[in-house]
Amino acid sequence: MNKIVAKQELATKIKLVEIYAPESVEEAKPGQFVILHIDEKGERFPLTIVDANISKGTISLVFNEVGKSTKQLGILEEGDDILNLAGPLGNPSEIENFGRVLCIGGGVMIAPLWFVASALRKAGNEIIGVIGARNKDLLIFEDEMKAISDEFYITTDDGSKGYTGLDFLNKILSQKNINRVVTMGSVVTMKAVSEMTKSYGIKTMVTLTPIMVDGTGMCGCCRVSVGGEIKYACIDGPEFDGHAVDWNLLVSRKRIYLPEERISSLLNERLGGINP
Ligand SMILES: Cc1cc2nc3c(=O)[nH]c(=O)nc-3n(C[C@H](O)[C@H](O)[C@H](O)COP(=O)(O)OP(=O)(O)OC[C@H]3O[C@@H](n4cnc5c(N)ncnc54)[C@H](O)[C@@H]3O)c2cc1C
Ligand code: FES
Repeated sequence: MNKIVAKQELATKIKLVEIYAPESVEEAKPGQFVILHIDEKGERFPLTIVDANISKGTISLVFNEVGKSTKQLGILEEGDDILNLAGPLGNPSEIENFGRVLCIGGGVMIAPLWFVASALRKAGNEIIGVIGARNKDLLIFEDEMKAISDEFYITTDDGSKGYTGLDFLNKILSQKNINRVVTMGSVVTMKAVSEMTKSYGIKTMVTLTPIMVDGTGMCGCCRVSVGGEIKYACIDGPEFDGHAVDWNLLVSRKRIYLPEERISSLLNERLGGINP
């Protein structure tokens, strides 16, 4: 059992939980994820590590309530237990002194990007931070990202705060001598950023979040194509070169279980968060 020691609502349907996980915390690195199993009847689902506090023995996770399992986690309160937390899994993000790194986070993934960007900053990089969301009310980790960025920008899809959309990045990419780009967000955002940076020849790392089951390379569920080769995001990634990812395959594979996920979520709502 792993106890939730703190919980916070960051925006509508976006929550942070700090979980006591002494067996995971020492190894937890930016870019890695854990797999949660809330109770015996629940499914296993991955969330990316947002912070690891070795002295408290806790790791923090930020999640969007999108379906059955994430809504179930959202119902739990401080003091509640989850059945199991496995990890850290996956490879850590590459952290070196690259020079000037443009770190772009979108939606709920701004939070784990902050963990990566903080490590890059500690490694001596100059950080240009960009956070984006559909609208200003969904922006999270703004103060945290600002604090570790040498330059900081905000963008929203509807223009309610900062720039509108991603076009403004062209100015940064063409004028700032960027050595590397790291982006975490929706497939749409990471694909758009990768397409943009390709024309500038700037290495761009993305974090792929395909559907995962075991998270240990056994089931084949998280298969992606990178540079024409089959990779498994859970053991070969989740960080990959964005210029080599087959984005269309990723999108089609993420939609495979959509009907079943909708039914499961609806059943769960009808039963008030109890597993059907
Ligand atoms: C390595 C990895 C790291 C992740 N890190 C985070 C994180 O830090 N924070 C976070 O909020 N989410 C993260 N996700 C996505 C998260 O695992 C899914 O949102 C979750 O499993 C959905 O489960 P559910 O039962 O609540 O929803 P479901 O009922 O399974 O699905 C509801 C909706 O969410 C979509 N969905 C399901 N799985 C994914 C997925 N893997 N990626 C995107 N959309 C999905 C479905 O297509 C559907 O539209 C990560 C996924 C992976 C593979
Ligand atoms: S989740 Fe099963 S192989 Fe990656």
